Amino acid sequence: MNISIINTHSHINMLKETPIEDAIKELEENNIIALVPSSSTTDIFDVDKVIKKSDNLYGYVGVFPEEVKDFCDKTLYDMEEIIKNNNKIVGIGEVGLDYYWDKSFKDLQKEVFIKQIEFANQMNLPLNIHSREAHFDTLDILKKYNKNSKAILHCFSGSLEFAKECIKEGIYISLGGVVTFKNAKSAKEVAKGIPLEYLLLETDDPYLAPVPFRGKENRPYYVKYVAEEIANLRDISVEEVTQLTTENALKIFPQLSA
Ligand code: NI
Repeated sequence: MNISIINTHSHINMLKETPIEDAIKELEENNIIALVPSSSTTDIFDVDKVIKKSDNLYGYVGVFPEEVKDFCDKTLYDMEEIIKNNNKIVGIGEVGLDYYWDKSFKDLQKEVFIKQIEFANQMNLPLNIHSREAHFDTLDILKKYNKNSKAILHCFSGSLEFAKECIKEGIYISLGGVVTFKNAKSAKEVAKGIPLEYLLLETDDPYLAPVPFRGKENRPYYVKYVAEEIANLRDISVEEVTQLTTENALKIFPQLSA
């Protein structure tokens, strides 16, 4: 396949208004690859299944910060079994910290985040990371515990200065629909200011649909609007954005080029 865009974070299995067959067709017709993260101890099984529906889908296994109360030793066992039996699982995610919704179990979030980083290191797989209002703790933990896994900060919501600090540590920055929002000053600054070698594209569908679909259900195919906006902001061609971000993603996920 001549890949046009790699969408590094798409919950295609969570679409409600769009039939999944339609979303897959849009990806296949446009040579877009989508990587589907898992959010919970049960979602890992759903992602394992759903990515088998198309050559354009790959997946991550992991437990999202809001779901860490269900995380246990069996979860790591389940994730390892899924990885062993499905070579389309190419990373661990989405994992991380979220202090926006609930600060009451910060310590448990950190503990489970660390366990999943160590698991990624052991499996030699990259990390797809969710970090909301927890930027400094996320970076601290990565510096301390991540030994050998490439890391992506998904739907990056920090400042340009913080993005540069992460890049110094070799961390990739992934941008989604927010960059197209009129008032998203900081996301636009990040899109303009970071070295392209560390930029990745995503949608985080079904959430955060880009303009002109803001407020509607997002779709994995809309990643092209994210690429267009970044091209506009940087005053370069869309092809340059899609080519470079695809090369970046293939460095992290070499299995996708096969
Ligand atoms: Ni997500």
